[in-house]
Amino acid sequence: MELLKGKVAIVTGAAHPLGMGFSGAKKMAEAGAKVVITDMVREPQHQANIEARAAELRDAGFEAIALPVDVTNREQINACVEKTIEHYGRIDILFNNAGSPAGVGDFLEMTDQQWDISYQVNVKGVVNFCQAVIPHMQKAGGGSIINNSSLLGLGALAHTAGYCATKFALIGLTKTLACEFGKDNIRVNAICPGNIWTQMSELEVDLHVNAGEGTRAEVTQKLVDDVALGRWGKADDIGNAVVFLASDMGSYLSGVSLPVAGGLASGL
Ligand SMILES: NC(=O)c1ccc[n+]([C@@H]2O[C@H](COP(=O)([O-])OP(=O)(O)OC[C@H]3O[C@@H](n4cnc5c(N)ncnc54)[C@H](O)[C@@H]3O)[C@@H](O)[C@H]2O)c1
Repeated sequence: MELLKGKVAIVTGAAHPLGMGFSGAKKMAEAGAKVVITDMVREPQHQANIEARAAELRDAGFEAIALPVDVTNREQINACVEKTIEHYGRIDILFNNAGSPAGVGDFLEMTDQQWDISYQVNVKGVVNFCQAVIPHMQKAGGGSIINNSSLLGLGALAHTAGYCATKFALIGLTKTLACEFGKDNIRVNAICPGNIWTQMSELEVDLHVNAGEGTRAEVTQKLVDDVALGRWGKADDIGNAVVFLASDMGSYLSGVSLPVAGGLASGL
């Protein structure tokens, strides 16, 4: 069933083949959307990565283009929005997936730079993109914005202050925008992933191993000991939730923070 037939979606932070951004883009393309794959490009390989993701989707018979966007750079965001309108004529869905783990670490040792990157990417990047896209959604009569927060946007863990504080802020932003733009038929929701196996979680495992908490295999298992479903999440578990929230299947959902976490921390 083509739940997103005729829709156009922009996805941020979608360069990595195992990441949630690319999964969201792929699942939306499979559901009939035309997708714009974006990520920050700081070296030639980064441009090659986003182009490879878009080519992968086109090779599978879907419509996709790649554009370089650092979400902290308004000029790049505006250029992306203009090019999307030129190319596809509209923007129906924005998946704000880009995120930075810079704010993970011991609170007393966190630097200004760690706080600044966390805020600039995890909160301000979403603000920047929403300000550029919402006027187009308003003109088109509606849209769906999905923000990738975290289970750490709903509850806390030690040694995650910069990440946790900004992912909480993203939930507040999501709820505010849902209230403010519901009148324009724009739905704004957050996804709160638990432990999803991506390059970011590989880094998380490394942190625990380096802290002497066990071998790679032990730490990898320990991190999902409390997950009710007993396994790591897959990026596609998030991609499926994105399609649900983006499509008319989620037509009366706005301002929601949806945990996609296999039952981890169900008591929150
Ligand atoms: N992996 C997990 O278990 C987990 C859990 C909860 C939430 N999340 C969130 O999910 C999202 C996706 O993470 P992932 O695990 O798929 O890892 P990932 O590393 O594949 O995705 C993060 C992406 O954000 C991009 N990014 C960082 N700074 C950027 C900037 N300034 N401009 C544009 N792009 C930028 C990175 O290049 C990367 O492609 C993130 O927001 C992350 O915080 C991840």
